[in-house]
Amino acid sequence: MKRSLTDLELKGKSVFLRADLNVPLDEYGNITDDTKIYEELPTIKYILKNGGRIILASHLGRPNGEFNQKYSMFPVAQQLIRYLFNKIYFAVDVVGPDATEKAKKLKDGEILVIENLRFHKEEELNDLYFARKLANMADVYVNDAFGTIHRKHASIYRLPKLLTNNAMGFLMEKEIKTIENATENPERPFTAILGGVKVSDKIGVVKNLLKKADNVLIGGAMAFTFLKSKGINIGKSIIDEENIEIAKNILDEAVKLNKNVILPIDIAASEIYSPKAKAKYYNINKIPSEVMGLDIGPKTIKLYKKYIQDSKTIIWNGPMGVFEFSNFSNGTSEIAKAVSKNKGLTIVGGGDSIAAIKSLQLEDTISHLSTGGGATLALLEGGDLPGLEALSDI
Ligand code: 3PG
Repeated sequence: MKRSLTDLELKGKSVFLRADLNVPLDEYGNITDDTKIYEELPTIKYILKNGGRIILASHLGRPNGEFNQKYSMFPVAQQLIRYLFNKIYFAVDVVGPDATEKAKKLKDGEILVIENLRFHKEEELNDLYFARKLANMADVYVNDAFGTIHRKHASIYRLPKLLTNNAMGFLMEKEIKTIENATENPERPFTAILGGVKVSDKIGVVKNLLKKADNVLIGGAMAFTFLKSKGINIGKSIIDEENIEIAKNILDEAVKLNKNVILPIDIAASEIYSPKAKAKYYNINKIPSEVMGLDIGPKTIKLYKKYIQDSKTIIWNGPMGVFEFSNFSNGTSEIAKAVSKNKGLTIVGGGDSIAAIKSLQLEDTISHLSTGGGATLALLEGGDLPGLEALSDI
């Protein structure tokens, strides 16, 4: 069992708080959605209220181990000032003189936001020396970066092995508990809705969910790999060629386990991949060779809505079509509306699914909006989670 934040003695301690503040930014560097910052506040406030001081660290984007102003943590620090009355300092480096000096001078009740961890290639390389430099700044380690729990990076995996007085933050605990409770002990029927492009990203998830869920509804481009594996002509639709056989095995396995893996029965399609293309609708057994499927069709929406309506537990990850094109966003929006109407336990993860919920202003109707995309999938897959594994056991 791992320690909770409430198990730690924080008074007079310098706490290295690894958060996932990887917020989306527009072309001018403005934060377009600050959910990850907002969700971090309970952990931050608790540490400060209990007499600790915080070295706050995160990655932002994928700067490939180099300084890049576009991915600076500075806007994140500025946004935090809007929510907190405490003194907040910013270090222009990660383990350089500015960060180390400011960390030394930090007083209880204050926060130091350091620069983007991924400005050092050592972060993603899980480098021991880099982790040691981070460890030297603090006494205690808290991991609240649920969105990065599946990454074996220095601040996630090495650091807690050096700062063994460590614990999970509140957000990490909430995310893990909610998803585990839903999958281990679900109120039934339990329906998982999976979308997105690549079957390879979701193979493990589908396999693991087949053991737990009653229904798995499949949308997005990955549906075409499954349809192809059944010998259906899918025209020019994108498929994950290497995984056709695996998709077929999953469908066979579902039959053996007496579980429903439901595939689209009609699609919205076009000859071209364009936000201006006109959507045409086809039943799944009548897809012309020259079109590609870009969304689920109205009959599929109706069918999926029926499963959603009848379920008591729902997990949704991944769009049903090309959500970023308004002409092919209908499937994802309609699934978002249906999930929001369900009064059972509803969990939504992944960038596009969450964006669909938010664009329809349905946030308050979902039981749990996960801050993790890949992390949620890793948890659903039931594999190793380096960020959790590295924390000390009690
Ligand atoms: C996320 O946004 O899913 C997390 O911050 C992880 O980001 P990454 O996929 O770049 O590691």
